[in-house]
Amino acid sequence: MCDTKLFNGRNIVLGVSGGIAAYKAVEVVSRLKKLGAEVDVIMTGNAMKFVAPLTFGTISRRPVTTGMFNENFQWDVKHISLARKADIIVVVPATANIIGKIANGIADDMLSTTIMAAKCNTIFVPAMNTKMYTNAIVQKNIKTLKENGYLLMEPSEGILACGEMGTGRAPEPVEVVEKVKKEIFKGNDLKGHNILITAGPTREFLDPVRFLSNPSSGKMGYALASEASQRGARVKLVSGPVSIEPPSGVEIAGVISAEDMYNEVMKSHSEFDIIILVAAVADYRPVCTEKHKIKKGNADINIKMKKNPDIALELGKIKGSRIIVGACAETENLYENARNKLDKKNFDMIIANDVTLEGAGFETDTNIVRLVKKDGIYKDLPKMHKKGVARHIIDEILEMKAL
Ligand code: PMT
Repeated sequence: MCDTKLFNGRNIVLGVSGGIAAYKAVEVVSRLKKLGAEVDVIMTGNAMKFVAPLTFGTISRRPVTTGMFNENFQWDVKHISLARKADIIVVVPATANIIGKIANGIADDMLSTTIMAAKCNTIFVPAMNTKMYTNAIVQKNIKTLKENGYLLMEPSEGILACGEMGTGRAPEPVEVVEKVKKEIFKGNDLKGHNILITAGPTREFLDPVRFLSNPSSGKMGYALASEASQRGARVKLVSGPVSIEPPSGVEIAGVISAEDMYNEVMKSHSEFDIIILVAAVADYRPVCTEKHKIKKGNADINIKMKKNPDIALELGKIKGSRIIVGACAETENLYENARNKLDKKNFDMIIANDVTLEGAGFETDTNIVRLVKKDGIYKDLPKMHKKGVARHIIDEILEMKAL
């Protein structure tokens, strides 16, 4: 089954160098896109002799980078911004030339400069004539790359494009994508941690067919649960009613009202060393829920409301050495409101959403957040997929854990 969200929020730079196996890179891009990745393709001058940039641009639905100086001028330095943005770089095919350049510190085009400027992992997928591949200098360069932490896939054996038989065939696209998957998710940095996450809205019923609620879709909380689980944590997700698929490997407790959510969290909170509260919990509920549907009459009606329990506030009182992260969706005074909630509820960090911004807050796939910490220091994240936001939040939590 193809998980179309697996790579949501992941940025992959795909380098294509000049070899006949460049056609395989087209299928790699297509497969990565189907898994939800954002793919930026960089082609060397020789790669363009094998496949047109238009093909990669059409499949990746992004502009293809083909040279150092012929791009539209942008204020950011392109190879640095691509290198910074990339979660992983994959070079398909990796010719003897690009392997040799990186092994010897030569950065003379967009692909080599990007690889050299990147902090993320780079996977080289070599493909070349068997005599070239077994050439002592190429092998020495491969060894140098491995010693410097670069990842190399083994080419397979078979009849090569030149008609010779031997080692040098590029692995199949499906194998390349499997390798990317393995590398992206191998980080088990949350192993041993138990994380409780609240997500989604709550419903406060007036009668059997009417309730008070809010537009939370659960996307932010589910993205956090998915990220935490993929990074090795045991995750329990206490979720209000949503219509999105639960992430695999996560324990789900479905709840309806704020009171249900409070009871579910209080039942098991002591098992968790990290608690992330992104649910949009109703602060009030009707004093009484009618047993039967309220009939329409001529007069206006008043609904008396009472306060719901505040899960975050109660957890804050018994916090101990745990990390508790909250969230707030604000329409004004983002920083002040976030700081007040952080202090009042004893959070270590708060995820502040300015929900007046397009692409932020409720229901959207993306979010724009300010992460505010106890000491008042904050970090603004640019608009990105909620999966990417989740990754940054988890990174911040791990940093706090390390202190
Ligand atoms: O679900 P999505 O569509 O992806 O949208 C995500 C989101 C916008 C809902 C999410 O990012 C977010 O901002 N959640 C917090 C919503 C909010 O405004 O919370 P609040 O300011 O009412 O509460 C502050 C904190 O206390 C939150 O961590 C909340 O979960 C918690 N709280 C609030 C009330 C209550 N009774 N119990 C609580 O635990």
